[in-house]
Amino acid sequence: MQRRTAFYEQKNIRLDKYNLKLNEALFHNANGYIGIRYDFEEGYEKGYEKGHFIPSQYINGFFEYAKMNQAERLYGLVEEKQIMLNVADTQPIRLFFDGEEFSMFSGAVLASRLRLDMEKGVTVRNVLWRSPRGKEFYISITRMASFYQLPLFTIDYEVLPLNFSGDVLIESSHNGNVFNYVDPSDPRMCNEAAQYLTSVGCEIKAGASYITSRTFKSGLEVCSCVKNVLFQDCQKQFIIDNNDAVCRFMTTARPGERIRFIKYAVFSDSIRHENCRDRAEAEMALARSVPLQELYEKQEAYLADYWNNCGIEIEGDDELNTSIRFSLYQLIQAVGKDQHGNVAPKGLSGDGYEGHFFWDSEMYIQPFFTATNPAISRKLIEYRYRTLDMARENAAILGHKAGALYPWRTIMGRECSGYFPSGSAQYHINGDIAYSIIAYYLATKDIEFIQEKGAEIVFETARLWMDVGNFHEGKFCINDVTGPDEYTCIVNNNYYTNVLAQYHLNWAVKFYSRLKTSDGFDRLVQKIGLSEEEIEGFSKAAENMYLPYDERLKINPQDDSFLQKKSWDIGEIPKSDFPLLLHYHPLHLYRHQICKQPDTVMAHFILDDAQSEETVLNSFNYYEKITTHDSSLSMCIFSIVAARLGMVDKAFEYFESTARLDLLDKNNNTDDGIHVANNGGNYMAIVYGFGGLRLKESGIYFAPVLPERWSGYSFKVTFENSRVLVRVREDECLFRLEIGRAQKIFVYGKEYLLEDSLCISRR
Ligand code: BGC
Repeated sequence: MQRRTAFYEQKNIRLDKYNLKLNEALFHNANGYIGIRYDFEEGYEKGYEKGHFIPSQYINGFFEYAKMNQAERLYGLVEEKQIMLNVADTQPIRLFFDGEEFSMFSGAVLASRLRLDMEKGVTVRNVLWRSPRGKEFYISITRMASFYQLPLFTIDYEVLPLNFSGDVLIESSHNGNVFNYVDPSDPRMCNEAAQYLTSVGCEIKAGASYITSRTFKSGLEVCSCVKNVLFQDCQKQFIIDNNDAVCRFMTTARPGERIRFIKYAVFSDSIRHENCRDRAEAEMALARSVPLQELYEKQEAYLADYWNNCGIEIEGDDELNTSIRFSLYQLIQAVGKDQHGNVAPKGLSGDGYEGHFFWDSEMYIQPFFTATNPAISRKLIEYRYRTLDMARENAAILGHKAGALYPWRTIMGRECSGYFPSGSAQYHINGDIAYSIIAYYLATKDIEFIQEKGAEIVFETARLWMDVGNFHEGKFCINDVTGPDEYTCIVNNNYYTNVLAQYHLNWAVKFYSRLKTSDGFDRLVQKIGLSEEEIEGFSKAAENMYLPYDERLKINPQDDSFLQKKSWDIGEIPKSDFPLLLHYHPLHLYRHQICKQPDTVMAHFILDDAQSEETVLNSFNYYEKITTHDSSLSMCIFSIVAARLGMVDKAFEYFESTARLDLLDKNNNTDDGIHVANNGGNYMAIVYGFGGLRLKESGIYFAPVLPERWSGYSFKVTFENSRVLVRVREDECLFRLEIGRAQKIFVYGKEYLLEDSLCISRR
């Protein structure tokens, strides 16, 4: 029997519109390249208003340009954005038994279950159905987005007639006439015109349908190929009409005899392949070259490895374990596996935020991969490397004479922020990207990769600090930027930005001196025209970086003017006014001491040596009172810093409030897609929070604490090719080297050599 935590399921599938739409996201299938929302293959009840459901499928990195209307066309504002597209629908399958059509909304659903199996990597729907005229069937539908063959999505359909013999018609469609979902009332969703693809070709070849479409402006092509296979005698008919291919099978059913039907769908795109039509054909041949069972086994093997690398287990709370598994499963479903894709806030489960990539990737998702699967972390950096030229162009648009400024939100590399005060002004994105490269380096010591790609990003983005900042009364100041808290915009000396820029500049200097004598470094120095004087400039700016500190409160103010602003008691704000961004003018928010999410507290997590314990504690207490947590990226960071400060109960409370965000649909918007950064944050809260993991130049640090409600927990971390299991119990922490050579580790600040295993008393 499968362990309870291996799956998330809904017995008696809820059939109201709200839950069905939510299930589209919760049960979606994705593998980092394709993502397919979970829709009933047979469709929904007639009369459910059109547009309510979003039966979408996405390709990571595939986009179209769309107009960004600016009310005032000021210089340099974004006029064209990119949006992630809904590509051809390969889901529909209708079943007719002697003229009666299977539907969850007609006849009687005698029993049903929808299960996301996170070990097998599939979703399974089981239905016991009685038709209006009394025919009974057991239906089981298994869907998989293959981790082994990324372009492949399969629907494995089994029907067991229980009391029926007669004619069966299976109608499977492949539809290229698709639209993007729009919601004009929500700023986090796409709100204009919805059709972005035009047909290039629709054909049937060797029993498979091919639909190729092109975007109007970006000129990108996508091809999907569908092949339907029925394992019994049948008559087959193809109808192809107006970008819609329908394959019909006529067969006979007998009680107790299972009918099995498999729908293979593959996707390919012209970003990755010169000829996506031919590529789709090759992918289909590959998928069909082995039995589906073999692909299931490969899927399970991929995930066995994945789970083994994370090794997260909470002792004594199965339900929480399931939520954590769910979070980690979403991370591997969402993350791009090549340099053309990245991670959108909703992954590939919905088009909230139009599929743009933000700092979420580097600060919430990458910390997980860096610690468990650095090869994926490297791919995320390669994506940033691929778009470095566009970051250089972006810097120039914003008037910088040198360096690169990564866009706040993007798909292909150009800025997509419509509202620059809480968008393009978030220059910390440069520091976040550098931070993630440094973390990757600290975890792997992969200096070759730094030389090949990482250093160029670090230098070019470091340059930007020199251009945006300036010396004032001997201190290096950075003015008119926005920190992570989007309720406080365009400020001088945002603590998060400045302290991160300091770290970034220091590391640019370190990389320079480490790489200086290595082969090929000259080429990079020449390519970007980097000089020793510039490096000295980096050092000087870092050394003299201005970091706001308030003597009276003994905290780091969020920025120069933050403490001058009016207070606003969160307790006095009506519950219905949250999130505030949907109810208050931005200026109203900016003029108050109110935070959407951690800013200084976030800085105290990522650079926790920069300030004294006292400052970190005082700051935590100060910002805690004024943070609304209107962003799903918020609570996990408060949990981590509370744990670091020894406030374990508080850390646990924050963790508890956010760990099931998607499964409980706490923000009422999971139907737009799951919250990937929150999922990454759940991981961080356990491993970086309770486990106290930190990657530093001097080594890898742990400082485990144990929430009272748990009897123990464990996790695994990979660094420098060694994998370490950490098991935390009431009295002790066990560290076991599972793979690789002996490593130096720090536990509660004390150094140990981990050769085999170590047992350390818990503080
Ligand atoms: C948050 C940002 C985040 C974005 C995408 C916003 O609500 O304030 O920090 O990057 O969502 O997840």
